[in-house]
Formats: sequence, structure tokens, C-alpha cells
Amino acid sequence: MNTTIYYFSATGNSLMVAKDLSEQLTDSKIVQISKKNMSISKDTKSDKIGFVFPVYNFGIPVMVKNFIENLQLSKHTYIFTIATCGGMIGAALDQMKKILNKKGIKLAASFSVFMPGSDQLMFQTVSEEEQNKLFKNEKEQVYTIASAIKNGQYVEYKTNAIMSPVYNLLYTATFRPKAMGKNFWTDEKCIGCGLCSKVCPASNIVMYEGKPKWDNQCESCLACMQWCPQKSIQYKKATVKKGRYHHPDIKVNDLIQKS
Ligand SMILES: Cc1cc2nc3c(=O)[nH]c(=O)nc-3n(C[C@H](O)[C@H](O)[C@H](O)COP(=O)(O)O)c2cc1C
Repeated sequence: MNTTIYYFSATGNSLMVAKDLSEQLTDSKIVQISKKNMSISKDTKSDKIGFVFPVYNFGIPVMVKNFIENLQLSKHTYIFTIATCGGMIGAALDQMKKILNKKGIKLAASFSVFMPGSDQLMFQTVSEEEQNKLFKNEKEQVYTIASAIKNGQYVEYKTNAIMSPVYNLLYTATFRPKAMGKNFWTDEKCIGCGLCSKVCPASNIVMYEGKPKWDNQCESCLACMQWCPQKSIQYKKATVKKGRYHHPDIKVNDLIQKS
């Protein structure tokens, strides 16, 4: 039984889940969802396929949606999905189920894993103590998830008929990632190292005259801001007084797109 785990990750939370899961499943590999990998258009060979991704504004990242819509899958493959989130899963798993249903594919199992929140546009970072609790919990949860996947278990995701439309509405009304690029700026601490450009999964940042310049393909993931070694990247005024977060056991090189 071979398993392919496709992941989208900015701070490393989802990558950690994908890696931990892969370690527990025999004959499995992890594949990044990123601009350079959008050309992957078929996977009818894997026996099991998983998608691991973060929740953004109660829904799923645009790149993950586009990737799955573009991916040819077999009806006989066991498909599972894991959403990592900072506390509110919203309509993410519901949206995933619908995207697959439209392709005539049944989602076999859905899970959510709580991780430190990466939305520093809205919230402050969580304390180190809280992070450690979440990391411990993640390992335990992934262990349970792995055993369900090994057994080919069906884990039905039940749509909340009342809340789901509300979350979908909030997602549609508030999630405008492509328009975000113009709101990033760097303060005087920027040394022009270019790491932000390298870690962007959407290849949306170019270095111009030694400084980053954001285009209009932002995914809203905040990898640029979270990994900036100088903490010099800001989004409007929203992030000036906020901390920065990335998973301590993930190296930035693991997130940089490989061609
Ligand atoms: C723009 C943005 C919006 C987010 N919205 C939500 C949300 O609606 N609900 C939630 O629980 N977490 C939300 N989060 C937190 C992330 O889903 C969570 O921290 C996730 O584990 C990040 O994974 P990654 O670092 O692998 O991308 C948001 C994060 C960002 C950057």
C-alpha cells in the first residue's frame, strides 16, 4: 500500500503533521503543494492519498483548492484530509468534501489538528507553554489518525447544517488573498536577504533593488512575515505589535519550493 501526502504549509505546522504521519505509514511520501508543483495533474497510482493544509478564514487555501480541482484521481483511491487550525475549523473540511464530490470522488476520512495559530493579522502568538501542549497533542493525534488510515477506516465528516453556510459566507466575504500583496511593507530592519521571496509558496515576491516586492498572487499564508529573520515584514499596521511564529522543529529549507 503506497500513500502520497500532499501538503500546503507556511509556518511548518501542516508540514509537521504530514511528516509525522508519513513516518508512521509504510511506503509513503510527502509532496508540497506550491506554485512549482501546480503542474502535477494526475495521481491514479497511489493507493491512498492525503491532503494536509491550514484553515484560512474558516475555509481552505486557494492554492489547495486549485491543486485538487486540477488533480486527476481514481475513484478507487482512499482519500483522506487533515486540516490544521488555530482553533476554528469553520467550513474547511466541508469545502474539501464538496470539491472532491464535484469530481465524483468520495472523501473517506477527515481530521482536524489544533496547532499554534499563525494568523498574526488578527491574533497575538500563543505562549511557548501553550505551543508545547499543542505539539504534544499533535503527536498523539497523528498517531491515532495514522492507525485509522492504516486500517482504511471511514471517518465521516458531518456537516453542521446551521453553521456551515455561515462559515462559507464569512470565507467568501473576508478571504481576498490575491489583493493582500499591496499591503505588505518592510521596516528599517530589512537587510534584503531575500528569504521571504524564497519561502513564498506562491512565488509572489521578487527582490527589487535589494528589497522585497509583492505581486498579486498572495495566498495569505504569511510565510514571508513569519520566517523573516529580521522580523521586518509588516502587513498594514496590523502586525506591528504582534509576535512571529514558525514551527520550531521545521527548518525553513524544508518549506522552500524545490523545482
Ligand atoms: C490568514 C490566516 C487565516 C487563518 N484563519 C484561521 C481560521 O479561520 N481558523 C483557524 O482555526 N485558524 C486559522 N488560521 C491559523 C492556521 O490555520 C493554523 O495556524 C495552521 O496550523 C497554519 O498552518 P501552516 O503553518 O502549516 O500553514 C489562519 C491563519 C492565517 C495565516
